[in-house]
Amino acid sequence: MENLNRELLFYQTGKKLPFIKKAEGIYMWDHTGKEYIDACSGAVISNIGHGNPKVAKAIAEQAGKTFFAYRIHFENEPAVRLAMDLVEYSAPHLNRVYYVSGGSEAVESAMKLCRQYFYNTGQGSRYVFISRAPSYHGSTLGSLALTTYAPLEIPFRPMMRAYPKIPAPYCYRCVYHKEYPQCNLECARALEKTILEQGPENVAAFVAEPVGGASTGALVPPEDYFAVIQQTCRKYGIFLILDEVMTGFGRTGKLFAYEHWNIEGDIVALSKGMGSGYYPLGAIMARKSIVDEVVGKGGFAHGHTYAGNPMACAVGLEVFRIIREERLSENAAEVGRLLKAGLKDLEDHYGIIGQVRGKGLLLALELVKDRDTREPFPAEKNLNVLLTNEAYEEGLIIYPRRSINGLSGDHVLVAPPLILKKDQVAQILDRLDRALKRTMKKI
Ligand SMILES: Cc1ncc(COP(=O)(O)O)c(C=O)c1O
Repeated sequence: MENLNRELLFYQTGKKLPFIKKAEGIYMWDHTGKEYIDACSGAVISNIGHGNPKVAKAIAEQAGKTFFAYRIHFENEPAVRLAMDLVEYSAPHLNRVYYVSGGSEAVESAMKLCRQYFYNTGQGSRYVFISRAPSYHGSTLGSLALTTYAPLEIPFRPMMRAYPKIPAPYCYRCVYHKEYPQCNLECARALEKTILEQGPENVAAFVAEPVGGASTGALVPPEDYFAVIQQTCRKYGIFLILDEVMTGFGRTGKLFAYEHWNIEGDIVALSKGMGSGYYPLGAIMARKSIVDEVVGKGGFAHGHTYAGNPMACAVGLEVFRIIREERLSENAAEVGRLLKAGLKDLEDHYGIIGQVRGKGLLLALELVKDRDTREPFPAEKNLNVLLTNEAYEEGLIIYPRRSINGLSGDHVLVAPPLILKKDQVAQILDRLDRALKRTMKKI
């Protein structure tokens, strides 16, 4: 590592970390040779695991042809083939595909397609997007305007439209102080109230993650939650946009999380597992009837330079083939059940685990000071980061966040690659157990 000036580079912080040397399957090794288990798939992206030789081969083959051809000059075969696969394996009404290079771009594109549809169909007053609190939909100003995660939004609030939010179905800390099912899904019914407050003629769409991601710690909605949401959207002619950026491509034990409840999203945002870390890739899928009103009437006034490039799509094609052929959704469901049961065992041993939640291999532990009262730890204790750092020391990579609008309510995501084998579950639990012991000594 000679002659490397590490001061030049910054991300969210200037924190210096070990260098990555190699990664294979669920394992990663740093420059000192230390081994880690990637128990959060990076940022819940590496669905097929690291170092897959089939993807390396697909990249080499595509590299021998072309990396890039701009979409307004040429069509390319991988892009069309991937669209064919996506349409074949998605809900029947999702029969059009638009490529992007990441999750924020996907959400932003979904918003703009939706808006342009209403603009083109004589419903120009519809531009209000309703979403949930907490939620995470991306870091660009449009997707951030849908997000409720205070530390990420506060500095930028004056720059964004203050879109209305309804409470996420966070039953563990119900804002209405009610219990399901006696609550009659007040959080879902809040959508209708909000639509009426805004004026239905002004509302374009409701946007939600089918299973919550980083902002809520793998929040699984009550069984009939999305039925109420969908009915409400239909009643007022507004679109339901599903953000499957984190949940897509097998993560929750189905190819797409909407399959758990047969939710009919009008537009679905995809990324992360789609390229599985091998190449930046994302997409939106939508109904033909929406796309026809936009593309057929002057064109979609939106686009990113890298969209649909041959290399990204060749990678996506191979990654998607691997997910299907190796039955990784089914594996996520099966091994996810084992891992969740193991996490629940830890919950019995450690008073600081308030709740284990999630679906498939999108799991989380919410950490509390008092399990009976569910009192969170004081924010300044940064327990999510403390546990994550201790886990890192033990060679386990997990993902720290907070469930109470990003301000408190520590949680960590445990979301390993979907290739996780049954005998590797014990390795994750072992390292997490050791990390919890270390954490207990420090609080
Ligand atoms: C649900 C969801 N939507 C959107 C995004 C934004 O994706 P990206 O970071 O690729 O822009 C994320 C990223 O974590 C996400 O989890």
